[in-house]
Amino acid sequence: MRHFDSLLRLNEDEVREIMRISADLKARWNQGARPQLLEGRVLTLLFEKPSLRTRISFEAAITHLGGNSVFMSCTEAGLNGRESLADVARVLAGYSDWIAMRTFSHQLVEDFMRYSGCPVINGLSDGAHPCQALADLFTIQETFGSLAGKRLTYIGDGNNVARSLAVGAALMKMPFIIASPLGYELTPQFLSMLKQRVPTADITLTPDPAAAVARSDVVYVDVWTSMGQENEHEKRKAVFAPYQVSAKLMAAAPRSARFMHCLPAKRGMEVTDDVMDGAQSIVFEQAENRMHIAKGLLVWLLGSDPIKG
Ligand code: CP
Ligand code: NVA
Repeated sequence: MRHFDSLLRLNEDEVREIMRISADLKARWNQGARPQLLEGRVLTLLFEKPSLRTRISFEAAITHLGGNSVFMSCTEAGLNGRESLADVARVLAGYSDWIAMRTFSHQLVEDFMRYSGCPVINGLSDGAHPCQALADLFTIQETFGSLAGKRLTYIGDGNNVARSLAVGAALMKMPFIIASPLGYELTPQFLSMLKQRVPTADITLTPDPAAAVARSDVVYVDVWTSMGQENEHEKRKAVFAPYQVSAKLMAAAPRSARFMHCLPAKRGMEVTDDVMDGAQSIVFEQAENRMHIAKGLLVWLLGSDPIKG
């Protein structure tokens, strides 16, 4: 059975396969077609944190393809101690074709997978955001026509999104450059694990945002304070201030570079309005692609290709 807790579950060909299914379904959706490939299927969403894109893109994706979604907070589902995690996982898997989770602890997703009889999807944990990174690769492929060799520069915290992008870039043979303040870099443990799993990974760490964007194809940003870190907000605001992506910083990148943000954005903090709304920004194409890649992922996780028959 296939799970999707991390992009490390996939190899390059599998990423391409999910993107191929997604591109096919996107083209059909753009023509007004909604093939009922997942009719009668149930996607359960179990969330511990707020969400706009992840929840609604999955709900729209399953609806377009003829299935249904059920949403419940982790607390309401009983993960606050009402019953054991193993029991919740076994029961829910009996009702569902997939379970998409959004959690604080990454371990909770891993534990859930051990007991679930259906595919588990990580819809963001403190450790990873693989659905986001998959959609981002899809968006970069659409924008530039290819992935290998494209330079992906990330400015900011070495967080869940940064980790999943680093894995995605490594799988697809893209140089990944990350500019972070001291103490907020990708950890040595993560980097050595990635090097071990994908020996060709090309990752550059620097404290200098202007140097980082100099030769980039994509400049990518996430919030300075992730969900669950709200009590660090004031401290982070000061530490990350030199890492704001403004028109001045974008001017240090090639004119052909595109700006991406997983959203939600804190405008005026990690990014200024002129960049978010500027000609180089593809943030809303990126957000829409969350839905298209969700379709490809749901279909692929079932292990059959209803498009080919
Ligand atoms: N990018 C993303 O995952 O957005 P949400 O937190 O709104 O789901
Ligand atoms: N790093 C952010 C991503 C939100 C989509 C967070 O975890 O809150």
